[in-house]
Amino acid sequence: MTDRIYNVAIDGPAGAGKSTVARRAAAELGFVYVDTGAIYRAVALAVLDRKVDSTNEAAVASLLKDTNVKLQWEQGVQHLLLNGVDVTDRLRSPEVSDASSRVSAFSAVRCFLLETQREVARQQSVIMDGRDIGTVVLPEAQVKLFLTASAATRAERRCKELREKGLEAHYEDVLRDIEERDYRDMHRELAPLRQAEDAVLLDTSALTLAQSIDETVRIIREKLAL
Ligand code: DC
Repeated sequence: MTDRIYNVAIDGPAGAGKSTVARRAAAELGFVYVDTGAIYRAVALAVLDRKVDSTNEAAVASLLKDTNVKLQWEQGVQHLLLNGVDVTDRLRSPEVSDASSRVSAFSAVRCFLLETQREVARQQSVIMDGRDIGTVVLPEAQVKLFLTASAATRAERRCKELREKGLEAHYEDVLRDIEERDYRDMHRELAPLRQAEDAVLLDTSALTLAQSIDETVRIIREKLAL
């Protein structure tokens, strides 16, 4: 690692493999991996725990007044503290996924989380993954990647992942969830999911995980002349 601070933005739809690719690429390059979906998920968890209506923006905005979201790293692993409590293990349920996609459309939520993300990127070299990192959060990032794969490929991968964890997974349901989330993420008014003009497009539909990581690291090294 050098003394310079580098910011790499990786955006793309749910299930494109962003998090695994970003995490492994960050480890190879000695950068910190920042999963920004976790902070939206934390807000969603707060909403669910407090039984706030996730479709009511005013109610969600009001909840934010006494909500604190903090990212920290332990041996390179990201942890999410919600009001001081580590809730990392509670962020991946389907209920939280669904609610996070809803609350992330609210401007109050996006404004609330923006500075948290920028502050993390000012302090260290990061690979930050999300939906609007290259377009809104880090428009000055030295490298921007848009990682995608067909909805069918993403659904197959997600089913495999769930089954490996011993969870039940029905392909049609998983595909429908992915398509619904894509639609919401791409059609929301604020910071919708889209490829930044200066982002490199990487479609991983026909790539293995190892190939996707290699290609990502290659692109980053080339752009940063590392
Ligand atoms: O990446 P993920 O599945 O953990 O993200 C959960 C939700 O958060 C997703 O539906 C969209 C939203 N999100 C966002 O709006 N902006 C980001 N930078 C990251 C996630």
